[in-house]
Amino acid sequence: MAGRLDGKVALISGGASGIGAAHARVFAAEGARVVIGDIQEAKGQEVAADVNTNGGESVFVRLDVTDENDWQNAVHEAVARFGKLTTLINNAGVYWPGGVEEETRDKWQKMIEINQTGVWLGMKTALPALRESGNAAIVNISSLYGLIGSPGSIAYHASKGAVRLMSKAAALEYVRQGIRVNSIHPGQIDTPILAGLTPEQDAQIKEVTPMGRLGRPEEIAYGSLYLCSDEASYTTGTELVIDGGWFAQ
Ligand SMILES: NC(=O)c1ccc[n+]([C@@H]2O[C@H](COP(=O)([O-])OP(=O)(O)OC[C@H]3O[C@@H](n4cnc5c(N)ncnc54)[C@H](O)[C@@H]3O)[C@@H](O)[C@H]2O)c1
Repeated sequence: MAGRLDGKVALISGGASGIGAAHARVFAAEGARVVIGDIQEAKGQEVAADVNTNGGESVFVRLDVTDENDWQNAVHEAVARFGKLTTLINNAGVYWPGGVEEETRDKWQKMIEINQTGVWLGMKTALPALRESGNAAIVNISSLYGLIGSPGSIAYHASKGAVRLMSKAAALEYVRQGIRVNSIHPGQIDTPILAGLTPEQDAQIKEVTPMGRLGRPEEIAYGSLYLCSDEASYTTGTELVIDGGWFAQ
């Protein structure tokens, strides 16, 4: 049976864990060849091995999204191994709590560097190869916290709000060059990143989620699957909220 991503080659940042690892599995199952980039080397290798054991084609590369040389290496690896790059998932990200007065300059800069600058560097480095492929898609993983505010996470909101508008800006810049750019805005998804939430934030988020449960990482990857497939050929600059109904309230 034809896969929805047959012929695609995807580079997924933060692919060793959570939502990124789910992307690797779902995309490979739909026919994409996958490059998994992350700073967690052992876990990233495990995800790649698992994808390959299950009949997919994937490779792991060490990628710190704040490092331009790492990005160049990752893009080079995709093209050298699989002949092209059609798809970029800017997924790597970090979270820790920090209110306006508590957040420190160092921690602020670190989060902006990973969550925001890392997304720009990924797009900047991958764009020549994506353009060359003639039919490409970028999905930037923002957050529901890129659309709404909450107390106690000032740097995270700043970084994720920026990812939303960077996606729209890039979508318009490349709209006539065969490259679509969209953002995804997950609600609370069951991954290791939630360890950063305070117990009060965790309880509050669960209480306000209409579905009354956490999301599963693959529920984000399936949204991305649509956006990266040719089914979404008229879709660019949009934002897909996947949040158990939270944003609808
Ligand atoms: N889980 C949620 O509730 C939720 C909600 C909204 C948005 N998100 C976003 O989804 C994305 C994935 O998060 P997740 O929930 O799967 O968390 P996760 O912690 O399971 O995965 C994040 C991955 O990013 C990697 N990473 C961190 N810093 C990196 C760096 N400098 N370079 C490369 N990789 C790096 C980590 O090693 C990890 O593998 C993040 O951008 C996060 O902000 C998550």
